[in-house]
Amino acid sequence: MSSGSPFSSHIVGVGGYLPERILSNDELSTMVETSDEWIRERTGIRQRHIIAKDQHTSDLATEAAKQALDDAGLTIDDIDAIIVATTTPDLIFPSTASIVQYKLGGKDFPAWDIQAVCSGFVYGLAQVDGMIRGGMFERILLIGAESMSRILDWQDRLTCVLFGDGAGAVVLEARASDAPNGVIGSVLHCDGSYRHLLMAQHSYSGSVPGEDPTDFQLDSAGVAAIEMKGNEVFRVAVTKLGEVVGEALERYGVEQSEIDWLVPHQANIRILKATAKKLKMNQNQMVVTVNHHANTSAASVPLALNHIYREGKLKQGQLLLLEAFASGFAWGANLVRWSKG
Ligand code: ACO
Repeated sequence: MSSGSPFSSHIVGVGGYLPERILSNDELSTMVETSDEWIRERTGIRQRHIIAKDQHTSDLATEAAKQALDDAGLTIDDIDAIIVATTTPDLIFPSTASIVQYKLGGKDFPAWDIQAVCSGFVYGLAQVDGMIRGGMFERILLIGAESMSRILDWQDRLTCVLFGDGAGAVVLEARASDAPNGVIGSVLHCDGSYRHLLMAQHSYSGSVPGEDPTDFQLDSAGVAAIEMKGNEVFRVAVTKLGEVVGEALERYGVEQSEIDWLVPHQANIRILKATAKKLKMNQNQMVVTVNHHANTSAASVPLALNHIYREGKLKQGQLLLLEAFASGFAWGANLVRWSKG
């Protein structure tokens, strides 16, 4: 499908950052009633990285961004806009993106956050691609960054074993649309009727509890904690991810067999395997990082991309399918033909 735009967008720099502190399953099982075996069997997770007390989401984002800029051979002065996808901003406001801009030494260009939970990076990539095609910006720094450990109830074994902290970043650049490769396109969805199945309740606006399951109820500590109906999330995730992949392939006229790499949101190895099976993809065409850093929400897709890129496995012209499923439920996919050397 042609956009008719004189521009296309290309990933020219990739970076990632995981905080130093590693929390293993064994250590976690001294804090809550669980075991390494249970966590590995059900999720594939072996460990997660945890942000330091004096770090913020913006610090993780800044480190990933520095690596992506360096990788692109660019400085912050070459950037026209910063977008941070995050569910765990440093503050309610200003945006984490504006804090990252300051920490990178940038000035006088737009910076803002987007919130689509674990799908934040996939949503962000669609947004960036649209703005570059529209001729609005030439180079955009897109970051997914999260401190999920700050919104976990560390006594709830149903959720605290699943998440971790980290950040991933890419630099996207405009090129003439007849340049080969680059972002092909995206498909996004949201169905708010599922909103109550995965939530972190915290009222910024002081709403009072009511009968609606998503009416906000502040817990006694005043901190949002993740609540999840795991089985239902799992079931809907596998169905919707299969559908969105099919939709993306059809919309952009791509055959399933052409996909070289599946770069999925890293929530759970069983969701990843079920999606790869639906796509009839070989397991080693699927990027897996959930074992190393658990579910890092909006950081997960760019961290997976960074992982495979640093391993030297991405070759020019290869077709990548990025996909994610998140609270909302919000889900989506991006098709990218790799154009970086
Ligand atoms: N350690 C040990 N036992 C546990 C733990 C734990 N951490 N958590 C639950 N259990 C127990 C339960 O209490 C239950 O015990 P019971 O049979 O005596 O009642 C038993 O294990 C089975 O519990 P289930 O919830 O049925 O376990 P399930 O096989 O569904 O696995 C899981 C749970 C891993 C959360 C799964 O539902 C899942 O992966 N869901 C997807 C959710 C997800 O990935 N969310 C992330 C955010 S959304 C996203 O990013 C896509």
